[in-house]
Amino acid sequence: MIASAPGKIILFGEHAVVYGRHALVSAINKRCRVKVKKAGDFRIKSRLGVTGLDFETHPYVSFAIKRFDEVADVKGADIEIESEIPIGSGLGSSAAVIVATLKALSAEFGVDLNNEEIFEMAKKVEIDVQGRASGIDPFISTYGGAWLFPERRRVDVPFSFFVVNLGEKSTAEMVSKVAELKNRHPEVVEKIFDAIDLISLEASRNMGDVEFVNELIALNQSLLRAIGVSTPEIDELIARFERGELVAKITGAGGGGCVFGIYMGKKPEGSMIVECETEGVRVEEE
Ligand code: PMV
Repeated sequence: MIASAPGKIILFGEHAVVYGRHALVSAINKRCRVKVKKAGDFRIKSRLGVTGLDFETHPYVSFAIKRFDEVADVKGADIEIESEIPIGSGLGSSAAVIVATLKALSAEFGVDLNNEEIFEMAKKVEIDVQGRASGIDPFISTYGGAWLFPERRRVDVPFSFFVVNLGEKSTAEMVSKVAELKNRHPEVVEKIFDAIDLISLEASRNMGDVEFVNELIALNQSLLRAIGVSTPEIDELIARFERGELVAKITGAGGGGCVFGIYMGKKPEGSMIVECETEGVRVEEE
C-alpha cells in the first residue's frame, strides 16, 4: 500500500511557540510518499540509501515500524520512500515520513488506525528520535490545513508562497541559542515573544488582507533577527527581496533552512512555489 503526507511551513510564531505563545502553521502541497509491502525481512529504500531496520540511517522510519509493531505483528516489510520535501530545512520532512509510514503500514497490515491514533503514534516516534518535540509537525502532516496553535483553530490561507531553501540547519542549536539569550535578557526576550504572539493572532484574524499580512511577515522577521536566529546570508537575501519589493521571513528554526514570502506573481530565482494543502495523510492508488 502507498500513503502520502504533506510537509509544513511555519507562517508565524516559531521560537515564541516554545514558550507558550501562538504560532500559525500550514500544511504545504509537497508530500512524502511511502510504499509498504509485507515481506519476510525489513528493507528501507530512500535517497539516504538502502538499509534494513536501521536507527542511524533511517531513524524516523525504523522507530515508526517499532511503534507500529506494538499494535500489529510486523515480521518484515519492504518500504520505499519518495519525498518532494527537502530534508532538514524546516519544511516538516521528518514528520511527513513518519505519518505516511504509519498510514501505509496500517493499510498494508490491515490495522485500522484513525487520524488521532496516527498523530499520537507519530508524536511518540518524533520523541523517540529527537528526545523532545512540540508535536506540531505530526499534527499538520496528519490533518493537513492551516492551524493556529496551541488551541488548534483552523485558519483559511488564501495565497501561495515562494520558498527559498538555504540548506540544512539544526533546530536544537537554534532553540538553545534563543534559550541562552533569554537567560541573559529575560524581560526583553519575553517582550519579544509577546510581540510575536500578537503577530500570530493578528495574522490568524486577517489572513485575507495581503498587505496587512505582508507587514506582519516583515515585523516577525525583524523580531526573529532580534533573537539571533537570522544569519548574514538570510539578511542579505531578505534585503535583496526588499529592493525588489518582496517581503520575506524565516520559516522554522532559522540559522539556515528556509525563507518564504507571499507569492504575488513574481517567483524569485531558485525558489519553489507552495500552496496551503488542505488534505492530510491519505492512502494513494498503487
Ligand atoms: O525548523 P523547524 O521546522 O524544526 O521548526 C522549529 C520551530 C521552533 O519553534 C524553533 C521549535 C519548536 O519546537 O517549535
